[in-house]
Amino acid sequence: MKLKTKDLLTLAELTPKEFTGLIDYSIKLKKESKNGNKPLLKNKTLTMIFQKPSTRTRVSFEVGMFQLGGHAVNLSSNEMQLSRGESIEDTAKTLSRYTDCIMARVYDHVLLEKLSLFSTIPVINGLSDSFHPCQILADFMTIKEKKGKFNGLKISWIGDGNNVCNSMIYGCALANIKLSIATPKGFEPDKTALKESKKSIDVELTTDPLQAIKNADVVVTDTYTSIHNNDPKRIKKFLPKYQVNQALMNHAKNNAIFMHCLPAKRDHEVTSFVIDGPQSVVWDEAENRLHSQKALLASIIRA
Ligand code: CP
Ligand code: NVA
Repeated sequence: MKLKTKDLLTLAELTPKEFTGLIDYSIKLKKESKNGNKPLLKNKTLTMIFQKPSTRTRVSFEVGMFQLGGHAVNLSSNEMQLSRGESIEDTAKTLSRYTDCIMARVYDHVLLEKLSLFSTIPVINGLSDSFHPCQILADFMTIKEKKGKFNGLKISWIGDGNNVCNSMIYGCALANIKLSIATPKGFEPDKTALKESKKSIDVELTTDPLQAIKNADVVVTDTYTSIHNNDPKRIKKFLPKYQVNQALMNHAKNNAIFMHCLPAKRDHEVTSFVIDGPQSVVWDEAENRLHSQKALLASIIRA
């Protein structure tokens, strides 16, 4: 499939049909990968820029390009001329002459918007302080695999209303899934994402985890401290009320699944018992980063 958008920075660039189409395409590529994927990106190169650490994003994008017959160049931003003051504009124009796509993990989301403006090739957000769209592609692929559908499901987000939560809001709006978010006061997700998604779906915002998790099919959390927001004092605002433990999970549906983008801080936002227990699908979720990003790359990189 081919996407209309040049870039993927938030998920808001996609239509519901494109989003669900990408999820189905990811599942198809996963099945095909057992015998080796077709070289859909032969002679194509991805530039990967990292301002922040990464395990899953770094490896899954590089392996994904390799499995589709392409190549990935990995750059830490501090080894680029960007770190010596070269402009985003000149960087974007230069990379557009060598490679076919840029995936960047950045602090300020505006940097991605600038890369997108000045590059002639697609730009993919590999996480910014504000959004993590690639994580949500993998999450919804996992939900489709486990539940077989999106219609009628309820997702419960417990904890910090962070970058992953902001993208989850867009994902739910695109897949028409009900979302209930429980955060402490002052840790709510992005207001614009909430306002835009409320036009199409039912998003509930509460400070009560019991209310948010009631009847949930999918329970999701993330660390209380993100790379850009790592003051340990934050933890006191979340514990013990916003921890996903078995007592809380028991208020979700019996067949509810537990998801976490990883890396996790066991016994902070989730107990070891839950993340390592039978309801947890975190390893499939991590694996699906690879398959869903292959679908994205094959759909966004121009022939
Ligand atoms: N979930 C995720 O993006 O993991 P990394 O930070 O390891 O890339
Ligand atoms: N919210 C986390 C996600 C890491 C994948 C962070 O930004 O650090």
